[in-house]
Amino acid sequence: MKCRVIAVLGTRPEAIKLALVIDELRRRSDEFETAVVHTGQHRTMLDHALKLFKIKPDFDLDVMRPNQTLSSLTGRVLDTVENACHRFEPNIVLVQGDTTTAFASALAAYYCKIAVGHIEAGLRSWDIYNPFPEEANRRLVSVMTEIHFAPTALSRDNLIAEGIPSAKIVVTGNTVVDTLRALSKLPHSWENTPLADIPQDNCRLVLVTSHRRESWGSDKENMCLALKDLVRKHKDIRVIYPVHMNPNVRSTVNALLQDTERIHLTEPLGYLDFVSLLQRSFLVLTDSGGIQEEAPTFRKPVLVLRKVTERPEASQFGMARIIGMSREGIVSEADRLLTDTEAYLDMSEGENPYGDGHGSERIVEAVSRWFRKKTPLLEADKEFKLPPRPQLRRRKTDVEVGARAAAVGKE
Ligand code: UD1
Ligand code: UDP
Repeated sequence: MKCRVIAVLGTRPEAIKLALVIDELRRRSDEFETAVVHTGQHRTMLDHALKLFKIKPDFDLDVMRPNQTLSSLTGRVLDTVENACHRFEPNIVLVQGDTTTAFASALAAYYCKIAVGHIEAGLRSWDIYNPFPEEANRRLVSVMTEIHFAPTALSRDNLIAEGIPSAKIVVTGNTVVDTLRALSKLPHSWENTPLADIPQDNCRLVLVTSHRRESWGSDKENMCLALKDLVRKHKDIRVIYPVHMNPNVRSTVNALLQDTERIHLTEPLGYLDFVSLLQRSFLVLTDSGGIQEEAPTFRKPVLVLRKVTERPEASQFGMARIIGMSREGIVSEADRLLTDTEAYLDMSEGENPYGDGHGSERIVEAVSRWFRKKTPLLEADKEFKLPPRPQLRRRKTDVEVGARAAAVGKE
């Protein structure tokens, strides 16, 4: 008998992070009958990803409304996913991350008494309003979950501290690294993309994204003012900011940054365009979960535009810093990396601590073993292990520093 699996996605990061899990389930079609449910929480922002990964949803639930509220969205996802569960009758429903789609789909499965597999389980900031509502969403999902796919040892430990039996947890590595590894080597050009108009000069590129609900309003305004300060001060940088489609983000960003010299606001980028931009960037300023996890693959220093993060591994490795949202803080931290080569190089060393490119295989293998009632869900030596921390840096000679600095951004 085949294991019947529903994989639910609804937003851009879910599509990107589930792409190779769905691929692997379909590759093992002798064992799995798979249905993809697209809630449609994001109607357009993940279209590129669906096309790129050739994902054709089996159920398209079309729940998005302009400027939707959390409650109404939750209600629509709950209703429609429950209906999909009745129609497909899965053995397990896989949800990813901390969105309303993930939370409400887990709840719908639980109400139908269907097992939930939670991918990217166990991330915690320990503050339910930061990020809002994601921290509560992921904790609520944990309560209803049968298999917890923790990306790292730290996320596993968070779950164990909450009383979840270790036999139900598998340390997989984050699947975003699988996707990045699979795609980042494809040839890519900026021609005919929203990046085509950006002058190809000697300016260093500073990549910015920011969309979190807890920073709407004055925090977002501060961030915009800080970006203006930075381009005024550093004539050799360009800020590239692909702006999220949420109207609450767009209104502030457009009002404060449109038509500012060397600040380029673009539409959301297709995944290949985005990854290519990330590779060519000098520095990343972001509040995105996924981008915090991706940047270390290319050794790009990340300044995290948040007060706390549930993904502390990169800062523990010295590859990211949590800098908050004050105008002065953003300017001074970015300034340091734009002017102090040693400080910059300190943050651009090491392996990605979030994953090794095999997360999706581990997840699918564990689901297979769970279905066949095998224990453990995955043998300990097959789980994801953190790479070694970057060595504490000796002071580099001027020649070494100069050579690396010249190479940065041209890789
Ligand atoms: C959502 C997730 C957030 C995730 C982010 C990824 C929740 C509560 N929030 O935030 O965790 O980090 O996605 O990007 O689940 N819109 C469009 N077209 C789109 C997508 C959005 O027009 O393709 C606009 C609509 O007006 C929509 C609004 O953005 O109502 C908000 O979308 P929503 O999914 O509720 O929140 P996000 O801010 O996108
Ligand atoms: N991303 C993209 N185009 C963009 C901005 C981001 O494809 O213009 C990708 C990015 O590479 C990452 C994911 O979208 O994989 C992150 O999505 P987002 O920041 O919207 O959500 P979060 O990760 O914060 O939940």
